[in-house]
Amino acid sequence: MSRISACIFDLDGVIVDTAKYHYIAWKKLANDLGFDFSEQENEQLKGISRMASLDILLKIGKIKLSDQEKEILATQKNDYYLSFIKEIGPEEILPGAKDFLIAAKSEGLKIALGSASKNAMLILQRLELVDCFDVIIDGTKVFKAKPDPEVFLRGAQELGVNPDNCVVFEDAESGVEAAIKGGMKVIGIGDSKILHKSNLVVSGLHEMALSKLQAL
Ligand code: BG6
Ligand code: MG
Repeated sequence: MSRISACIFDLDGVIVDTAKYHYIAWKKLANDLGFDFSEQENEQLKGISRMASLDILLKIGKIKLSDQEKEILATQKNDYYLSFIKEIGPEEILPGAKDFLIAAKSEGLKIALGSASKNAMLILQRLELVDCFDVIIDGTKVFKAKPDPEVFLRGAQELGVNPDNCVVFEDAESGVEAAIKGGMKVIGIGDSKILHKSNLVVSGLHEMALSKLQAL
């Protein structure tokens, strides 16, 4: 095995296909506010916290609001999101994700979740994946949004592994930057044009094999 001894996974867009639900919830909110919101613009929102996402959305719509008004809109977006994921279950786990989690664990690697989402625990429960993780760090536990490395450094610390021995799996540019800032290796999940700073880019965890960790 390589010197990698822990894997830290982002959730939305890596383990489960919830990135699309975040996008349509933000788009619905933008439409309520009188403007449209493209998938390309949505790339800026991937990986970052709910409030930081709202700030970007409002900037795109050229709308200025008070903190109190922003709280209401953030809650509205989350209500839309929760209505979209109401029926979510294990069938929405992305191809190869569960197999890779199980393979990594049985190889003795430590496993953490490093997600900005405050809904992460609810989703993991619905996907029946809670037991796959040794440590779960989510949006309820961190203060600084990606690209700050806090979420991944907390994961490494709670696993008792040096950042240098961790690999992060991420679908967002902000998450790739966070992993690099944290001194970790990173595997991009998705588009190599967007995730080009990663050590390796694959289209999904179905393309991953433990042997690929040795080459990082
Ligand atoms: C990240 C998503 O995982 O979590 C973002 O990529 C999302 O799109 C963020 O905004 C926060 O999620 P939540 O569920 O706390 O609103
Ligand atoms: Mg993500």
